[in-house]
Amino acid sequence: MSGLASTAIRLNSGALIPQVGLGVWQSPAGATTREAVLTALGLGYRHVDTARAYSNEADVGAAVRSSGVPREQIFVTTKLWNADQGYDQALRAFDASLARLGLEYVDLYLLHWPVAGKRLDSWRALERLHDEKRARSIGVSNFLVAHLKELLPSAKHVPAVNQIELSPFLQRADTVALCLEHGIVVEAYSPLTHGQRLGHPAVVEVARSIGRSVAQVLLRWGLQHGFVILPKSTKPARIAENGGLFDFALDDAAMRRLDALEEGLVTGWDPATQP
Ligand SMILES: NC(=O)c1ccc[n+]([C@@H]2O[C@H](COP(=O)([O-])OP(=O)(O)OC[C@H]3O[C@@H](n4cnc5c(N)ncnc54)[C@H](OP(=O)(O)O)[C@@H]3O)[C@@H](O)[C@H]2O)c1
Repeated sequence: MSGLASTAIRLNSGALIPQVGLGVWQSPAGATTREAVLTALGLGYRHVDTARAYSNEADVGAAVRSSGVPREQIFVTTKLWNADQGYDQALRAFDASLARLGLEYVDLYLLHWPVAGKRLDSWRALERLHDEKRARSIGVSNFLVAHLKELLPSAKHVPAVNQIELSPFLQRADTVALCLEHGIVVEAYSPLTHGQRLGHPAVVEVARSIGRSVAQVLLRWGLQHGFVILPKSTKPARIAENGGLFDFALDDAAMRRLDALEEGLVTGWDPATQP
């Protein structure tokens, strides 16, 4: 995993975010998550992406605290769950997340989903948490163009990131362009298509031609587009594979081939359905 720790992007908060983060959605609570995070940190990952809804914040926090890696070198993200949206509820939910994590601050706190009627109040709560320096950066997730255009005019702080599903098969070009225009860093979730396109012939062919795995090709595509990428695995060999992205590059022809795979593949929630 040569060079992993050195690739980072500057956020509008001034903080640096490592471009590869370990995702832990569906990583079972308990030893499985603790070991996955410890394995990743041991390999050089310095970024973990959890959420209240993943029910494993306590394990992520325990692994971060016991890893021997200084806290300030690890970028920890968690997210406000939908049932906790609203100004006061969000402040309480943040305190509870921090307590489960056993940390004094998080590096990034995200609105997990643009809950209609509540997302603007929730954002004001995140702005307060940021001003109090308990959330070093704040951002949104699953915000498409309409959601961002609603939020931006009233926001005191522009979101530092927007975490959305992204892969060659779902590129959200209009949302990505709007984020770039406003200096919002784009995070790609489910960058491995949640496992659904790992046998796609075009990606398999690109992978074979450069002697890399399909997963590495999909992840490298995201890196070369400037996204933060959040691959999830609980298997040590795959965690290593997914971080081994800095000793090769995709050439223009390979990038064009992958760019041509857009098919609007949504493997999880589709925020386009959220008014
Ligand atoms: N903000 C949101 O709403 C949102 C939504 C979804 C995801 N996310 C974030 O994004 C992260 C990743 O998304 P995801 O979990 O949906 O999917 P993903 O990373 O696209 O794919 C994970 C799946 O691929 C398998 N896998 C991992 N590495 C592999 C490899 N090298 N070769 C073959 N298979 C591999 C994993 O299995 P094993 O674990 O068995 O290896 C798992 O089944 C989440 O953990 C979460 O942090 C955020």
